[in-house]
This record gives sequence, structure tokens and C-alpha cells, in this order.
Amino acid sequence: HFASVEMTPGDPILGLTEAFVADSRPGKVNLGVGIYYDESGRIPVLRAVRQVEQALAKESLPRGYLPIDGLPAYTQATQRLVFGPESPLLAAGRVATSQTIGGSGALRVGADLLKKALPKAKVAISSPSWENHRVVFNAAGFEVLDYAYYDAATNGLDFAGMLADLGKLEPGTVVLLHACCHNPTGVDLSVEQWKQVVALVKDRQLLPFIDMAYQGFDKGIDEDAAAVRLFAESGIDSFVVANSYSKSFSLYGERVGALSVVGATREEALRVQSLVKRIIRSIYSSPSTHGGALVAGVLNSAELRALWEQELTEMRERIHAMRAGMVEKLAAHGAPQFGFIQQQAGMFSYSGLSKAQVDRLREEHAIYAIGTGRICVAALNRNNLDTVVAAVAAVIR
Ligand code: LMR
Repeated sequence: HFASVEMTPGDPILGLTEAFVADSRPGKVNLGVGIYYDESGRIPVLRAVRQVEQALAKESLPRGYLPIDGLPAYTQATQRLVFGPESPLLAAGRVATSQTIGGSGALRVGADLLKKALPKAKVAISSPSWENHRVVFNAAGFEVLDYAYYDAATNGLDFAGMLADLGKLEPGTVVLLHACCHNPTGVDLSVEQWKQVVALVKDRQLLPFIDMAYQGFDKGIDEDAAAVRLFAESGIDSFVVANSYSKSFSLYGERVGALSVVGATREEALRVQSLVKRIIRSIYSSPSTHGGALVAGVLNSAELRALWEQELTEMRERIHAMRAGMVEKLAAHGAPQFGFIQQQAGMFSYSGLSKAQVDRLREEHAIYAIGTGRICVAALNRNNLDTVVAAVAAVIR
């Protein structure tokens, strides 16, 4: 039956982790996948999460099915976090939110929804974007276009190119935007630039689909949601937000995300939610209980939420310190051209390293990075920074 199935190439990100795990060299470093590691090189279990988990373990509640669209305490807390507690859209009942299997699940359920609602639309993603964006939207049946974003000459944003490309899209085109901590480049828009994008999107009647996987990883919870808040204030009829708690709660394997769809009216949002539920039911029926309960437990307790914010701040500040350390140490190795790493936001840096240099990092130094030159700066720490910097200095020589 499967004789015609050909070997499919491995995933560029998760496939690299498979190779890393199989590597027996001591001192190997994985700067590939987007995971935050603490100063001792471990994936942290946040103290706020641990407290909820221990309380849940004591209660040992029965594991019935969640509703198709998830735990209400979770989806409501998510809405307040994403849109802000005072959001008029929430007060008007215009936001339909579902708990999903990670941010990736939110993207796929959202893509399936859009394919049903707008069967002829195309999707535009940034050049470059997270590798999986194109894959998800293609799998949902969309043609995926690119809009200009990264400027290799400045290691920064090609804002003029971005506006020009967005301005050429047909009305009704879905535009995938990264709210903050752009993956893979680390290059973000300023608030002023977001205002221009929001105005253009509104004027051209494009449909924004905002992917927010790193809320709180650059400046702060509300600051990093600026794009969502500006679209909300813009008076635009409808937009879509996928968000994830993988990084901000360090709950990668629990797969906790959410899809929020803003409708023109409360009634429209209800209709959209009914379709989203039908879609979820057809794929995985309903989400799993544990991760959502952990996030809801933290966000709905003033004390634990404050503790979580403090822990999120610690993660964010450690990343900033690693960026600064990397730039300083590379300069000390005679490579002052990497100053841009300190201007980038979030977990990732488009380092400017070529595919050949990335190959040498892996082969000669057991340091894993994505072939595009993307490195995860959140995997650096004081124990591996010198090794990584010395290896980078060696391969660019
Ligand atoms: C990444 O880009 O490394 C993360 O978003 C993890 C993933 O699923 O690719």
C-alpha cells in the first residue's frame, strides 16, 4: 500500500534537534530550535507553574473532556493577556477564542477557518518567515506569497520594501504578521512603523493574521502586544491572532496556544466560533487538559501572575545579557560587525552566517544552528558563550 511513498526531507528545525541528540561529542551546543534555556543550560520549570502543578496533583481531579474550544478559565485569561484587560473588543463580545494544541495548532485551525470563509484568498508571509508558516498554509490549501521584510545589507528591516509589497496585495489577502520577536530574524517593527502597517492594511482591506509566540520576551507583556492593540484600536472589522505559551510559560511539550478571531459584531464572532469548533472537532476533537489548567491557574491568581511576570522578566533580561555578551566578545575576537545582534529582539538572531559557515560550526565545533544562519541566543549561557564566540570567530575567518 505504501510502496509509492517517497522519503520526505526532515524538518529544518526539529530535524536538526534529532541530529543534535544523536551527536555524542561532549560540549555540543544546540542553537537551532527556539527554546529558552536557563543559565545552567536547562529548560526552566517556572516557579509559578510548579505551584499550580503541585496544587493540581494534590486535588487529582478527574480527566473529563474539555469543551471543543477549551477551558473557559484559560480562554478568558488568554483574551485579557492578548487584547488587554480593558479591551473594548472584549467588552463588545467581538473576540472568539479557542484553546489550541500550541501556537502551531492555532495557525492550522485558523488557516482551515480562513480557507472555508475566504476560499479564493491568498496568504502573504514575510521574507523570510518561520519555516513552518508556509508549510501550514500550503497544507490548508493556500497559495503563499512573500512580502519584503529583512534587509541583509543592514541586518535590519526593509520597511520601504515591506510597505511597497503589502500595498500591491489584492484586497482580501491574508497577511501573516509576527507581533514581536520576529522568527527567524529578530528584526521587529517600531510602534511608529506598526501604525503605518495598520493604516495600510486597513486601507487595502487586507486581513491581518498575527502570530504572537513570544509575548513578553522582548520588552514586556503589553509592549510586545503593541501590534495586536493597534489593530484592535484601528476600527478594522476583523483580524486573527494565534498565540502560544510554549516560551512565555516554558511549557513547550504541553502544547498550549490559542486562536482568537475578531469579528465585526458579537453575532459574527459567535458564528465564527461555531465554525472553529466544527474544524477542531474534525481534527483532534478537543484540547488536552493539563497545560491549559497550568496557564489558567497562574493567570487567574494575582499572586502567581506577579511571580510569573517576574520570572518572564528574568528570562527576557538574561537573553538581553547574552546578546550584549556575544557582541562584546565577538568584537574582542576582532569581529566588531556583529553589533546588530544587540538591536534584535527575542530568542533569535539572523546572524548573517552563511550555510557553509553554519555547516562548519556543526562539523568542526559541535555547534548547531539553522542553515539560514538563524541562531537561538536564548540557548547561550556563561558556560558556553566563550566556546560559541570562538567558534563563530573561527568560521568567519
Ligand atoms: C522554532 O522556530 O524553533 C520554534 O518555533 C520551534 C518550532 O516548532 O519550530
